[in-house]
Amino acid sequence: MQIYNSADGLRSSLASDKLDGKKIALVPTMGNLHDGHLALIEKAKETSDVVVCSIFVNALQFNLKEDWEQYPRTFDTDCEKLRSVGCDYLFHPTETEMYPNGLDTQTKVVCPYLTDVLCGASRPGHFEGVTTVVSKLLNIVQPHEAVFGVKDYQQLIVIKRLIEDLCFPVKIISAPIHREIDGLAMSSRNWHIESDERPKVIILKEVIDWIAENILNGNLDFFDLESIAIERINKRGFEVDYITCCNSETLDFAANDDKNITVLGAIYTKKARLIDNVSVQL
Ligand code: PAF
Repeated sequence: MQIYNSADGLRSSLASDKLDGKKIALVPTMGNLHDGHLALIEKAKETSDVVVCSIFVNALQFNLKEDWEQYPRTFDTDCEKLRSVGCDYLFHPTETEMYPNGLDTQTKVVCPYLTDVLCGASRPGHFEGVTTVVSKLLNIVQPHEAVFGVKDYQQLIVIKRLIEDLCFPVKIISAPIHREIDGLAMSSRNWHIESDERPKVIILKEVIDWIAENILNGNLDFFDLESIAIERINKRGFEVDYITCCNSETLDFAANDDKNITVLGAIYTKKARLIDNVSVQL
């Protein structure tokens, strides 16, 4: 695996790959890689010849500076893991490489409305940071495909919209949620779950599955389903950010005639905010 810190270096290698007719895929990450990330690389390898993974802990998408500072930087083990799944290039830029004029005056990409709801409502500015850095990464790499996990469902929808609205010539591939044995969605944040909380956090997936099953069985009383789910989570000792049923494409609150519904949830543990979702087709 070749490692590049500069956009120019990466671009010149990719230019010769593109001349050779190779199909390029980008997998953007912030590092601290787990099996879920590696599954994204493997997904990218299914349909492309060259996989570029980026590791950049993007300050622009963190609401609190201390969260950004505390985000685990595990570069050496990340590299080992990427090599083990056959990643071709790693782009690991510095802050100055990505934001040469500083964060305060950085031009930003805004995707309104879709980013104001759900996680966007409790993390103001977060998605602006994501759409900005993803736009930059797409411009640097100019891949044929880019892979994003369904776990961050809202992020996936926002990125698809960004691609459409700004005419990025890239295909977005979504990769299914990678789960622990008990069903907990893999996430870098799972490290922050305390040991006494760990057996209980599965409640998030349990209630989301329960709502999805009800919807599939014809119970479309979304409000009722959500409030029962919130009560069950609260009883397990967790605070709920949201549990909601949305139109899978618009993220509007689900309507009775929607054919594609996604049930999304976010809860707070003592030190983490966990998210999960499941989509159903009617
Ligand atoms: O999902 C993530 O890890 C980040 O939001 C992303 C897409 C790499 C942008 O920094």
